[in-house]
Amino acid sequence: MKRLRIQSFGPIAGLLILGGCGDSTDSVADGPGKETYEANCQACHGPGQVGAPKFGNSEDWAPRIERGKEALYTNALEGTGKMPPRGANADLSDKQVREAVDYMVNNSQP
Ligand code: HEC
Repeated sequence: MKRLRIQSFGPIAGLLILGGCGDSTDSVADGPGKETYEANCQACHGPGQVGAPKFGNSEDWAPRIERGKEALYTNALEGTGKMPPRGANADLSDKQVREAVDYMVNNSQP
């Protein structure tokens, strides 16, 4: 019969990295839309793919924000140009799409 060896792990928990705390260079405001954004919108809006307004770029967003939030919500929900309806995820609720818009807009103010 083989003997099972019980391995003892070191105190790995001490290596937890707490990212971003108190880092003033990156002032990303969290919000309920963060996860939705990261899962559905970031691929295009992070790097500014296919002409998408870039996350965090106030110049890209200013003229859009001027048209009003409702217009942005509508275009995010229904699509516009190369922006697919709901970021191409039909499973997202209206609320989730609006929250993702809020998250992007809140982080793209001058
Ligand atoms: C396939 C790439 C792609 C994905 C994924 C995507 N977008 Fe976009 N988005 C675009 C492009 C391109 C534009 C610019 C459209 C234009 O103005 O012609 C845009 C524009 C927008 C605008 C501005 C609309 C306006 O009225 O000017 C909002 C708001 C927006 N996207 C929200 C979202 C949200 C929220 C998600 C995720 C749920 C998302 N997008 C996912 C490509 C994408």
